[in-house]
Amino acid sequence: MRVLITGITGFAGSHLADYLLQRSEVELYGIIRWRSRTENIKHIWDRLKLLECDLRDASSTRDVIEEIKPDYIFHLAAQSFVPTSWKAPSASMVTNIIGELNVFEAIRKLNLKSRIQIACSSEEYGLVKPDEIPIKETNPLRPLSPYGVSKVGQDMLGYQYFMSYKMDIVRTRAFNHTGPRRPPLFVCSDFAKQLVDIERGVREPVMRVGNLEAKRDFTDVRDIVRGYWLALEKGKGGEVYNISSGRSWKIKDVLDMLAKLSGVDVKIEEDPARLRPSDVPNLEGDNTKFVKATGWKPEIPFEQTLSDLLDFWRTNPDWI
Ligand code: GDD
Repeated sequence: MRVLITGITGFAGSHLADYLLQRSEVELYGIIRWRSRTENIKHIWDRLKLLECDLRDASSTRDVIEEIKPDYIFHLAAQSFVPTSWKAPSASMVTNIIGELNVFEAIRKLNLKSRIQIACSSEEYGLVKPDEIPIKETNPLRPLSPYGVSKVGQDMLGYQYFMSYKMDIVRTRAFNHTGPRRPPLFVCSDFAKQLVDIERGVREPVMRVGNLEAKRDFTDVRDIVRGYWLALEKGKGGEVYNISSGRSWKIKDVLDMLAKLSGVDVKIEEDPARLRPSDVPNLEGDNTKFVKATGWKPEIPFEQTLSDLLDFWRTNPDWI
């Protein structure tokens, strides 16, 4: 079975590669750009078939897909950091929406029968009303960031290509996920790295934070990527599935959990640069539809994920 991961050098992509390499039936392909950081896949480098491609370039995308002729595609490549989507909204739209469009068009024009999973996001739900929690797939989408809008675009494009051309596309809306190798831009990894730097004595004991009142539904990345596999093994083309733990944590509580695990005494300071023009207040996903379709359930407790994240930064303080 020929499997392609777009975004293989990224956080989720590298964990998905680790997972797929345990499956003997899988011949694993990835695409990289000429300047991609390859730190995340260094440990499996010789087990991957890597081809150079920029998804923003239609001909480049078509050429590699023609060469690979994948049975499965996991489309994870994206600009994934919400604050960057305000700084570079147009680039975020092009990477996320046009990048996906180029994959779809390549498959369509080559007349391939690939099954395609697209990594959509809980950010699409955006402003969710209290009586809409936990969020079902049928909830209205009210995105509050350019990133959220770009993911709605990807999601709707997946729906439209299924409807128009019967392409075998499964949409997954993953809620927040974290774990080792997460860049320290995202909240859990950022806080864990700050704490480890304080432990190591290379930072004063002051934590810089943004909005601690937001709530997010966290799952370990290793559970999420197993979900992506199951989405293509057991999910239905044309459908959309939430992948979430079904429980949410206030960011303040996440900070407290990490500080407790670390054991250092810290002062908390709000950093205005970390506040967003509009922050999604509460994301807690209802995963019933996905669990029913695939039998998936999260296995790694959040405390374990946070502890692994601290250990990751202790062992790899200079990862980024
Ligand atoms: N990054 C960051 N840094 N976030 C902070 C901080 C901080 O210092 N302090 C508080 N927060 C709050 C943010 O305002 C947000 O409410 C929450 O922590 C989570 O922020 P992120 O970790 O940056 O993730 P996100 O929820 O914006 O987006 C992530 O999850 C999506 C799925 O819901 C990303 O991984 C997206 O790519 C993904 O689609």
